[in-house]
Parts: sequence; structure tokens; C-alpha cells
Amino acid sequence: MGNTLLFILVVSQVLLPGPTVAGKTVTQRQIGEDESGENKKSHEHNKDQNQWSMDYEDCGKTAQSPIDIMTGLSLSTALLSIKPEGYDLRDQEKKLTLLNNGHTVQLNLPDSMTIHDSFEQLYRAAQLHFHWGSKGEPGSEHMVDGKRFPAEIHVVHFADKYGSLKEAANKSDGLAVLGVFLEVGSRTNPFYEKLFSYLQAVSEEGDQHEIPPFDIRGLLPDHLERYFRYNGSLTTPPCFQSVTWTVFNNTIQISQDQLSQLENTLKMKHQQILSQNFRVPQSLHGRKVLASFNLSFKTRRMGDPGAEAQDELSSRGNTLAIIFGCLFGITLLAFIIYVMHHRKMNQRSKKETHSNVIYKAATSTEEA
Ligand SMILES: *[C@@H]1O[C@H](CO)[C@@H](O)[C@H](O)[C@H]1NC(C)=O
Ligand SMILES: *[C@@H]1O[C@H](CO)[C@@H](O)[C@H](O)[C@H]1NC(C)=O
Ligand SMILES: *[C@@H]1O[C@H](CO)[C@@H](O)[C@H](O)[C@H]1NC(C)=O
Ligand SMILES: *[C@@H]1O[C@H](CO)[C@@H](O)[C@H](O)[C@H]1NC(C)=O
Ligand SMILES: [Zn+2]
Repeated sequence: MGNTLLFILVVSQVLLPGPTVAGKTVTQRQIGEDESGENKKSHEHNKDQNQWSMDYEDCGKTAQSPIDIMTGLSLSTALLSIKPEGYDLRDQEKKLTLLNNGHTVQLNLPDSMTIHDSFEQLYRAAQLHFHWGSKGEPGSEHMVDGKRFPAEIHVVHFADKYGSLKEAANKSDGLAVLGVFLEVGSRTNPFYEKLFSYLQAVSEEGDQHEIPPFDIRGLLPDHLERYFRYNGSLTTPPCFQSVTWTVFNNTIQISQDQLSQLENTLKMKHQQILSQNFRVPQSLHGRKVLASFNLSFKTRRMGDPGAEAQDELSSRGNTLAIIFGCLFGITLLAFIIYVMHHRKMNQRSKKETHSNVIYKAATSTEEA
């Protein structure tokens, strides 16, 4: 009988969705780095990120970015789709400035580009820039369920009411950044090409180049209604905790060639290749991460399951009910057979009390 119980326990462990989702912890990866003892400016580089909080207090606070987004811990909520306005710059005469600032490649954007829906106020674009790894090593800042993506683009906006990026940067509701993961696909991405084809022109730290305006919307995924939302910070010093983050669930595909260009073209001072310019994920410290879309089964149980989710839940529930019904039947049958067998044994052993052979057989039944 003990074996039957054990069997049921094992089976139910395998079948039931365990509590492991809720038990997942957000781990903070650390990159072991040397204290180079160089001037303060060099501490702003990603390799010195462990020391950032020594010079910039906010970098050590509890609402920092990026984070590893755990889909199982995200809460599905009704949030409006992101609606970029004025992103198509093809009719603009003024060229756009592309620059290598030694940390990233940045494209300055006109404040006629805005996002409003899904936020409590109007935000205006200021610049976009990238984070990447190096050959074969992914370099996105945000992660999803422990996965880092090859690269990530950030489109930085400031709250209109503060008038400028500089004024807004340290206000709690000052900035809104859109983040998109870049992955490798089979084709050259024509929108990214409009930017990446000028990387060579800004290969040295401090280089600037004027490039023809294009449709910036093309740098974002087709679908902008699926995203994660949380309150965080700038991912570089001074790490102000002023960013309403939007990280899209849909990714962008660029070619392997394009990714390689991003990884290999830009240099920092002393001719070092500018790469792996990402900050490691920061602890959530109890912050909520919202999802604008309905997440998969196990997640919905944690958040607020919608009708669609309920359907899926109950059909899964039915399957489980059938399985457990069958298991219960089998167990009951086994129990009845067991009891009947035992009775027979007892009757027989009463009859043949002195038979060792029968006694041993009974013992082995207990152990089987
Ligand atoms: C933001 O920075 C300005 C100086 O640039 C300072 O006067 C102000 O106190 C800061 N605000 C916050 C909320 O830290
Ligand atoms: C972000 O902070 C604001 C202000 O405290 C709050 O109203 C909002 O709910 C927060 N958003 C998230 C996703 O936690
Ligand atoms: C998108 O959402 C799905 C859940 O619906 C999740 O499994 C996947 O990891 C997400 N991907 C990104 C890039 O957010
Ligand atoms: C999630 O599912 C519910 C119930 O089906 C639905 O009302 C809601 O619109 C869905 N949300 C999204 C973002 O699709
Ligand atoms: Zn960034």
C-alpha cells in the first residue's frame, strides 16, 4: 500500500504545475571587474559598473535598470498600445546627427516625435542608441526569463512638461524609454541599414555625422501593443530613477552582417573596440512588472486570468480530472485486490501456521 501511495505522489508531482514559477528569484549577475584606479570618467564604462555607485549615488538605489523580466511574475494588465506620432521623418529637411560618444552610437531625434497613449502625459523624443555584445556573445540590457538577446535599441523620450531631456532626466516621471530586442534573421533590415550604413563614419569616439532623415517607426516592431512596463532608471551613470520603461515583446530581425557591423565598427579611446556596453540586470526590490498582453497558462494563474485564459484553465482542469479519476480507480482496484489477497493469505497462514515458505511469500508481497 505504501508503494501505491508513493506512486500517486510521484505522478502528481510530475503532472501538477508546481509552485516553481512563484519560487523563481531574480538573480543579479555580477561581472567580476578590476578596480583600475583610473580617473572618474573611465568609471563610467560598463566594465566598471560595480563601482558606479561610488561616484553616482543613484546607481546603488533600489529601482534600477535593466532587469531580467520574469514572464511568470509579470502581471497582465489592460494597457493601451504604444502609438508613435511624427516618427516618419522622410519629409524633414534637417539632417539627423549620428554620434559615437564612447559608450554607444546615438542618433539625435527631433522633439516633434512623440508618444502619448499608454502614458499619463505627453513624451517627446530626444535620441536613440544601442546596446550590444561581441562576436557570439549577446548584449541586450534587459533579459526575458534569463535570456539575453543579441542587441537592444533604446528610444529615449522626455516628459513635455519639463521642456528638455536635461530638466526631465532626474524627475521621477521625467523619461519614457522604448526598448526593443534585436535578433538575427535571414534578411538585411532596410530601416536599420539607413543607420548602420553610417557606422563607419562615426567609428572613432567623438565622431559625428549628419545622416538623411528616415522613417524611425521602421526601427520598431510592427506590433506595439505587446510590451512589458515597469518603473526603472537610466542604465548608465548617473542612473537617475526617472524612467517609465516599455520593453516590447515582439523583436526586430536584422541580418548577421548588420549585427557584426554594430559589434565591430565602433571604437573607444585608445582604439579599443566599443562592445559589450550593457549593464547587468538589477534586483527588482519588490517592483511590479506589468504585461500589456495575456501571458501563457502558468502566468495567467498568477495574474488576473481573462475569459480566454479561464477556458484554457478549465480544459486543462478537465484533463487533470480525468487523469486523477483514472488514477483513483486504479488505486482503488489495487487496494481491493491487496485486501482480498491479504485475507486469503491470513486464512491460509492460519491453516498452515508452521509453513516458512508461505510466510516468506507474504513478506515479499509487502516489499514489492
Ligand atoms: C534635479 O537636478 C537639478 C539640477 O540639475 C536639481 O536642482 C534638482 O534638485 C534635481 N531634482 C531631483 C528630484 O533630484
Ligand atoms: C510607477 O510609479 C508610478 C508613480 O509612483 C505609479 O503610479 C505606477 O503605478 C508605477 N508603475 C508601475 C508599472 O509599477
Ligand atoms: C513574449 O511573451 C511570451 C509569452 O507570451 C514569452 O514566452 C516570450 O519570452 C516573450 N518574449 C519577449 C522577447 O519578451
Ligand atoms: C486578455 O483576455 C481577456 C479575456 O479574454 C480580454 O478581455 C482582454 O482583452 C485580453 N487582453 C489582451 C491585452 O488581449
Ligand atoms: Zn540605453
